[in-house]
Amino acid sequence: MRLQINGSLHTIPEAWQSERLLFILRELIGLTGAKYGCGEGICGACTVQLDGIAVRSCQLSARDAEKRSITTIEGLSREDGSLHPVQQAWLDKQVPQCGYCQTGQIMSAVALLDENPNPSDDEISDAMSGNLCRCGTYDRIRKAIHLAAEKNQ
Ligand code: FES
Ligand code: FES
Repeated sequence: MRLQINGSLHTIPEAWQSERLLFILRELIGLTGAKYGCGEGICGACTVQLDGIAVRSCQLSARDAEKRSITTIEGLSREDGSLHPVQQAWLDKQVPQCGYCQTGQIMSAVALLDENPNPSDDEISDAMSGNLCRCGTYDRIRKAIHLAAEKNQ
């Protein structure tokens, strides 16, 4: 089996094929941006994208992701190395506190803006409600999403 991750194909050994996608990414491939939080689909720390949709990688196996395009935070920056506009907005608004949840937050925010380029506060709250932040950075997250939306107009 092979998985397409950030535009590159990776061969997944048989022993890993029933493992959760989060552990394949972190431990087999070495992409440690997606984080292990609850392991139960509740916190959003493990969020990546499958075909542009934000998903919980702790709840998926390699087979669930086969023949689909997986994007992790390591694959968000542009080919010239510049940051994705959402990553830049996160820096501009100094969103992270401890940082642990932030990869998942950014991956969900990118998926939101791809679907809805100019979300309202309520739409942001709805779309981001599955990403928990113990540090309470929600207000700065909302501001960063608005900033990224403005810059994309
Ligand atoms: S670690 Fe996957 S949702 Fe919490
Ligand atoms: S920044 Fe610490 S958990 Fe979100």
